[in-house]
Amino acid sequence: MIPETDESPHFLDCVEAFRLGDETLDREHEALCLLINRLAAAIDDQAHWEEAVAIATELVHETHRHFGHEELLMRQAAYPELPQHHEQHTELLSQIESLRDRLATDHYLARPHQTLNFLGDWFTLHIDHSDRRFVEFRRDA
Ligand SMILES: [Fe+2]
Ligand SMILES: [Fe+2]
Repeated sequence: MIPETDESPHFLDCVEAFRLGDETLDREHEALCLLINRLAAAIDDQAHWEEAVAIATELVHETHRHFGHEELLMRQAAYPELPQHHEQHTELLSQIESLRDRLATDHYLARPHQTLNFLGDWFTLHIDHSDRRFVEFRRDA
């Protein structure tokens, strides 16, 4: 059984919350958002832990790829806030990796909904604030 203190999963709104007006980044963010929602659904269905671990692993890889791409665009644009932005990416990625590892080794004690909700909120906030700042910087350059 999932501990009673765990929350139910929040499903993210992948259309409204992730529109920054940059076609490539918007597409990548939407794909990651859909993966987070798929992970929430798999975790909610306790019979499918292996699927949850597989989706979490895909989320780690896709997030890594997206961050690499976004930072490349930042270097090309000589974006001055790249170092701070990179730190946020590193922290976010390590949280996702740690969620994946806990799901893989200790399903029921991981309190996955709470962790996933925290990640989803943080992810949304990162895109809405930090990624948005970059998109606006590039637009105004
Ligand atoms: Fe970012
Ligand atoms: Fe991003």
